Amino acid sequence: MKSIGLDTSGKMIVKGPQKAKGTLTVSGAKNAVLPIMGASLLTDDDIDLRNVPDLADVRTMIEILESAGKVIERFDDQLIIKSSGNINSEIPYEPVRKMRASFNVYGPLTLRNGYAKVALPGGCSIGARPVDFHLEGLKKLGIESTIEHGFVTSKLNNPNSFINISLPFPSVGATEHVLTTACLLEGVKTTITNCAIEPEVTDLVNFLNKMGAKITGGGTSILKIEGVKKLSGVKYTIIPDRIEAGTYIILGKLVGEKLTIKNVSAEHLNSLFSVFDNIGSPVDYDEKKREVKVSETLLNPLNSISMETAPFPGFPTDLQPQITTFLSLVPGRSTITETVFKSRFYHIDELNRMGAKIRVEDNTAIIEGVNKLSGAPVEATDLRAAAALLIAGLVAEGETIISNVDHIFRGYENIHEKLEQVGIELIYEK
Ligand code: UD1
Repeated sequence: MKSIGLDTSGKMIVKGPQKAKGTLTVSGAKNAVLPIMGASLLTDDDIDLRNVPDLADVRTMIEILESAGKVIERFDDQLIIKSSGNINSEIPYEPVRKMRASFNVYGPLTLRNGYAKVALPGGCSIGARPVDFHLEGLKKLGIESTIEHGFVTSKLNNPNSFINISLPFPSVGATEHVLTTACLLEGVKTTITNCAIEPEVTDLVNFLNKMGAKITGGGTSILKIEGVKKLSGVKYTIIPDRIEAGTYIILGKLVGEKLTIKNVSAEHLNSLFSVFDNIGSPVDYDEKKREVKVSETLLNPLNSISMETAPFPGFPTDLQPQITTFLSLVPGRSTITETVFKSRFYHIDELNRMGAKIRVEDNTAIIEGVNKLSGAPVEATDLRAAAALLIAGLVAEGETIISNVDHIFRGYENIHEKLEQVGIELIYEK
């Protein structure tokens, strides 16, 4: 399984090695804005969002909200979501196929319309991503689902007054979906345990509470929700994207020349900072300015490391491909165990084509550090793999041609322009 059927056919040509010098500013968080946009379906009032990145995934969510009856206005990083007066709760396959996060409109649409029919998300390039936790949680909230012909159709029953949902794994999507839906179950008290505590979940909690929801426990693994009858319009500013920031920090450690990265929330990136501490190349963070200054690090004296990805506050799976590129150049043997998406290793063969020495055993990548990478034609299989290959192309000697590179525009706002501004030359061909 590779592509999820997006039009990803673009190519990026990277001539390495290159240096990044100047300032990069981190945009709003993709994984925060998507569920927040979905939650706008809980009200007919206007929702005014700021720090909204212009990403392919945000455009897909706009498409979904428009098909559900919302009217969207966009001015730079501001997104205003209004109601057209109608709610359509049938969402076709196309947008859900492009982006799994779109499935999270299913619960809210069911509550607003008493019924919803949403395409079931398909396979994807980072491993199996079922929605069983979502559907089991929603069932406890009184939403019964039937799967037929690739669509999930709901029926709304009367829920109990007290509901306990324990997630089998702290799934980000399931936590957000169940939490958002529970907010509008008037008079119902829901407790969700083993919740995801990713900063994007907390951002959603803060947003919902600002809309008038009654949620306690934000930032902890137990969320308590007292359902209300109505939620209202709000103005809300999205948190900075920790994965974009982390990607640029890793890039800077390999090819930076006094690179400044602005709008960094270090409190969301402790796990990445610890990895760099442990390998002997600490991150220079200015807490007051919320910025990182980073230059190419000398790789020879660094220590290899054994690490694993894990739900927050562990090391994010969304930075695993990028740190793998980095570790491929650190002397000695490093290992990364992937505990979130156990087969998220499609980038490894591509890095090996560039001269890396990595093998995968079960869910662990075993990396033997090499002293250089060399440019090669490679294929990006998903968004973060594309970022990892771009970093590899920048540090490698010679030309790297990354095919299917368009995945990168799902999660990195204007990456092409941003990198050009710090002196990096990329050729993009559609
Ligand atoms: C979200 C992020 C994604 C990130 C991931 C893990 C968004 C839009 N995407 O994805 O960038 O990589 O969190 O931090 O926020 N699982 C099930 N059944 C379910 C749901 C999940 O088995 O019903 C499993 C998944 O297969 C996976 C694990 O739980 O192994 C974690 O997935 P989850 O946290 O749900 O990821 P997403 O919300 O899809």
